[in-house]
Amino acid sequence: MSKGKILVTGGTGYIGSHTVVELQQSGFDVVIIDDLSNSSIEVVDNIEKITGIKPEFEEFNLQDYAKCETFFEKYTDIKAIIHFAASKAVGESVQEPLKYYRNNLTSLMNLVECQRKYGVQNIVFSSSCTVYGQPEILPVTEETPRKEAESPYGNTKSVCEDILRDSTSAYKNINAIALRYFNPIGAHESALIGENPSGVPNNLVPFITQTAAGIREQLSVFGDDYDTRDGSCIRDFINVVDLAKAHVVAIDRLLSGKNKANYEYFNIGTGDGATVLELINSFMSATGVDLNYKIVGRRDGDIEKIYADTTLANEELGWKAEKTMEETLASAWNWEKHYRGL
Ligand code: WQD
Repeated sequence: MSKGKILVTGGTGYIGSHTVVELQQSGFDVVIIDDLSNSSIEVVDNIEKITGIKPEFEEFNLQDYAKCETFFEKYTDIKAIIHFAASKAVGESVQEPLKYYRNNLTSLMNLVECQRKYGVQNIVFSSSCTVYGQPEILPVTEETPRKEAESPYGNTKSVCEDILRDSTSAYKNINAIALRYFNPIGAHESALIGENPSGVPNNLVPFITQTAAGIREQLSVFGDDYDTRDGSCIRDFINVVDLAKAHVVAIDRLLSGKNKANYEYFNIGTGDGATVLELINSFMSATGVDLNYKIVGRRDGDIEKIYADTTLANEELGWKAEKTMEETLASAWNWEKHYRGL
């Protein structure tokens, strides 16, 4: 007996595809909307290989409101939405701010309009710890003040949170949960889905695995002169499957009416901070790969350290990250090897 149908926008992407797997394995039916601008249709087949269930799929960009309406007129049984679809490259957003504001804000506004028109009450939104900027006090709780974003990408996350806060307050019967991710890493144990950035990876772990695979010559570590235990930046690296499970918990919360407000937000991290150099050493010990890296200057826009206080998610959602950094990095390497046929 299905628990109902969930729309996952951006469902062929990195976090989206892992969330589709967890939703299906928790008894939900899934329909994906994706424009395939930063992912491939093969992900749908790989999801089916993992779960035995092929999610329904519609290809279009959510900026097209007419196509959004056509979708909701076709799928009249959507119980909730998980919204991942967005442009997400920090550096690109600095070069192309209008593309980021237009895509990320319009897509969400179109979805909320359709929620109102077609009576889809619940939405879970993919937010980010980037809304905190560089916090004064660590670990960050949900009450830590948001700060001016470090990039247009980060600002779209803050503005989207405001759109949900104000929409759930103004319009009846719309409930939202924003999940503020820290740094998602790793891949499904099957190695059939994982992080597959187009072009040169911006993020640390895909750059590490591509260097280990010989696709990149050498990893550059952006700075070892920060005020941390080894001079490299601190982040809260969270396993992508743990993160995906948090979305299922958030959906269950909304569908069962356990939410305590129309708009809620939660930090989704491990609660532990690790430095970049600690992660590199963990990768080498978990995989036996001798990684070629060098220390270079700082990267513009990087904050020094951030990691989550996850008390609220642990106690309110009943969710906690479970996987270790070593098994997570081993899963990232297994994915890279499988994807490259190594
Ligand atoms: C992590 C650390 C780098 C690459 C961003 C967004 C966040 C989310 C994840 C989208 C930093 C260092 C990195 C490299 C390095 N967005 N690094 N060499 O910047 O913490 O977060 O991506 O999904 O919202 O803000 O992640 O992986 O780019 O960097 O030394 O080649 O690794 O300096 O300290 P970041 P990241």
